[in-house]
Amino acid sequence: MKKYLILLLLTLPLLSNQSLGVKENLGKFIPLDLTFIDEDGSSSTLKKLMNGKPTLLTLNYYKCAGICSPQLNKLADALGRVKLAENTDYKVITVSFSETEKPSLARTKKKNTLNIMKRDYVKDAWHFLIGENNSSGELAQLVGFKYEAVKMENGDIGYIHPAMTVVLSPKGKITGYLLGVNQLSADITMAIDEAKLGRTRKPILRSDAPFCFTETPAFDRAVNKMTRIMGVLSVLLFLAFFFFFLRKKSKKEDLFANKSKSWDMNSKRVQNAKGIAELITKKIKLEKSMKLMDFGAGTGLLSYFISSHVNKIVAVDNSPSMLVEFKSKSDEFACQTEVVEKDLSIDTIDETFDGIISSMTIHHLEDMVSLFDKFYAMLNTGGFIAIADLDSEDGSFHSDNKGVYHYGFDRKELQVIAENVGFKDVEFDLASTIEKPHKTFTVFLLTATK
Ligand SMILES: C[S@@+](CC[C@H](N)C(=O)[O-])C[C@H]1O[C@@H](n2cnc3c(N)ncnc32)[C@H](O)[C@@H]1O
Repeated sequence: MKKYLILLLLTLPLLSNQSLGVKENLGKFIPLDLTFIDEDGSSSTLKKLMNGKPTLLTLNYYKCAGICSPQLNKLADALGRVKLAENTDYKVITVSFSETEKPSLARTKKKNTLNIMKRDYVKDAWHFLIGENNSSGELAQLVGFKYEAVKMENGDIGYIHPAMTVVLSPKGKITGYLLGVNQLSADITMAIDEAKLGRTRKPILRSDAPFCFTETPAFDRAVNKMTRIMGVLSVLLFLAFFFFFLRKKSKKEDLFANKSKSWDMNSKRVQNAKGIAELITKKIKLEKSMKLMDFGAGTGLLSYFISSHVNKIVAVDNSPSMLVEFKSKSDEFACQTEVVEKDLSIDTIDETFDGIISSMTIHHLEDMVSLFDKFYAMLNTGGFIAIADLDSEDGSFHSDNKGVYHYGFDRKELQVIAENVGFKDVEFDLASTIEKPHKTFTVFLLTATK
């Protein structure tokens, strides 16, 4: 821990000059009369190119041997899976921030990028541009994209630059940032939906380094020395944070350590799990051949009531103490069981299931888009989810809200998330009510299929 802090302190003065990276300018407006040259060599304003649509904007350079191609290819792949209509619902604009590139290069880049898509994509929906009268430099500054030119070993000019996609409303307001290379189609869809309404969204970074360091510039002594130091230190800092958080997360405190032994003694909890299980068996045709995951299985209350209907239940939970209780009851389950100690806010499981059931767990995870995306990936085609949790509440359900990221859920918001990652037939039902001395809480069951 100490060494990470020392490293951070050493690096902060360098980072504080903020000459590289992304300065998020959420809420600011881009002047839509900036002009650019398109792939065919014609000059056009941003206004004309955006055509009144929410727009995804990336800044790249077409000769980049580093992060630009992976970024654009991954964006193309994700856009190919977005269920909105390109050109009608949104536009995409890629601008080269290099002063020297020509429309022919933009044309080639466009062709190669669109070829990545697994379906026909309306060609006019995605423009590959170059700047005119420093419009690309101005645009980069406005969206907070900070880059630096460096001389490469072969004498060419390369750039150290971040990878990001800026989301613009039809009027040019910056409503979001999708940082890094990897983008989820669900994040893109939501960002476009919000941009359409002019609403800003918290920037999203999906687990990758948003910088290009793959260039090998000729760090000719003094001139580029600073760039090199900053590059190396930034990478070190990134790695230090990466390992620090990895260690921290892997050593995450067991929040249920003091509750696991007495968990099943609470009759309301048992009744709640029973009610959820009964509704699941009513809503979903369970079969004796099925293998299910019980996410956040805990001591196995839900698994117990479902076990006579299926072949196997894999209990996934990040609390060792809850899983000890689950294992101690393995003879009581009417199907095979297996216990997997994993934290699905960090890990994934390389196994697929016929269904995922869960009770009172998802409010313990912050990122619902990522969780539902994982659920989708872990299901066999035709598989189902049956997820029970609290309807929106005021935070008074738990006596201690440590480890609670959501005070229940708004059903509509959860439905949009589930549908955006690809689930069909999303339905909500009332699974049970929990009476507490001060209030009654309702528990929903969300069911959907892949
Ligand atoms: C409120 S308990 C519910 C347990 C059980 N489903 C029930 O209804 O009795 C929530 C459970 O989710 C587990 N959990 C919380 N966050 C998790 C995560 N990120 N990954 C896996 N399990 C998690 C906890 O360890 C705990 O066992």
